[in-house]
Amino acid sequence: MTTAKRKLDHIRICLDRGVEGGWQPFEDVALVHRALPEIDAAEIDSRCRFLGKELAFPFMITGMTGGHPETKEINVNLALAAQEVGVAMGVGSQRAALENSEVEETFSAVRDAAPTIPIIGNIGAVQLVREGPEVIDRLAEMIEADAVAVHLNFLQESVQPEGETEARGAMAAIRAASDGRVPIIAKETGAGICREDALALLEAGVEVIDVAGMGGTSWSGVEAYRAEERGDGESAVMGRLFWSWGVPTPVSVVECASAGAEVISSGGVRSGIDVAKSIALGARLGGAALPFLRPATEGSSEVVGALRAYERAFRTAMFLTASRDLSALESAPFIVVGRTREILEERGFDSKKLSIYREMSR
Ligand SMILES: Cc1cc2nc3c(=O)[nH]c(=O)nc-3n(C[C@H](O)[C@H](O)[C@H](O)COP(=O)(O)O)c2cc1C
Repeated sequence: MTTAKRKLDHIRICLDRGVEGGWQPFEDVALVHRALPEIDAAEIDSRCRFLGKELAFPFMITGMTGGHPETKEINVNLALAAQEVGVAMGVGSQRAALENSEVEETFSAVRDAAPTIPIIGNIGAVQLVREGPEVIDRLAEMIEADAVAVHLNFLQESVQPEGETEARGAMAAIRAASDGRVPIIAKETGAGICREDALALLEAGVEVIDVAGMGGTSWSGVEAYRAEERGDGESAVMGRLFWSWGVPTPVSVVECASAGAEVISSGGVRSGIDVAKSIALGARLGGAALPFLRPATEGSSEVVGALRAYERAFRTAMFLTASRDLSALESAPFIVVGRTREILEERGFDSKKLSIYREMSR
């Protein structure tokens, strides 16, 4: 099966089937409500800088697609909306364009539609090993990218019979690519990144990590559906078994931030409240993919509507936590309960003193 065809399958399944996680770890995190914020909502400043450019609020649409002619419209709708609202955007894996240059325009159209926002390229770690570090510059040039995400999706690859599970050498390839023209972002795709891997990535020269943790789109789940469709019962069982495997997103944010990384919190970030929780937990940015897929198949104004809903909820959460700007939100008090708290405690974090780890990472 070609890379482009597989990508269309993924989009169809994500649109038609329930592909999200078994539990929602952001429900275990609550920001402390302030009944007397003593600021006017209108004076709240939610702006931030990311990759040298200003965003209206700390958010990005993370990489989904490109590579098949039918995906160009989705990418353009996402890009037009991200540009209008003022958030960052990632493209999906550019591997298909390396295999067939005719589909390059399904990616480059993003920069044409969004001239001034941060755009992030995308390639899998296994492809990076194969192609060598020079490929990063090529991918960046294709879309005038501000950074390139190297995605780590070994869970998904493990569930596909055709999966590429040659993980050896990935860290060396990331190290070799990390002093190129544009920064590298290490990115999971729904299973999260732990502190051990974050420390190794930082040591290899990566500064930004998109945790893409457990709690949102399950790529093991998507592959389970694909396996069922082609009558591959064994892979379907595997996909369902590993459905909720991984580091829950809020835990992954704390683990990577405590290691010193600049963190993008994604994986089940389903509202502006989850973005606000992410910033309080130590992330620089929140991000999401799946919630923007259906709007992007409809039109750019539908994507703008979805982004504005995130922005409004984010600014409201800032108001109700008495956070006039992002540095105030970064130190807003929060509580962590339930399974997420237990995991954090078992991993050695004192959930009552999480801010101490945040201070250590600065
Ligand atoms: C349709 C679709 C396609 C995706 N394709 C890619 C991809 O090519 N490269 C990548 O790094 N992540 C890809 N992702 C993963 C997302 O960027 C994100 O990490 C993951 O879906 C978790 O975020 P969510 O829960 O908000 O969807 C894709 C996600 C979706 C929904």
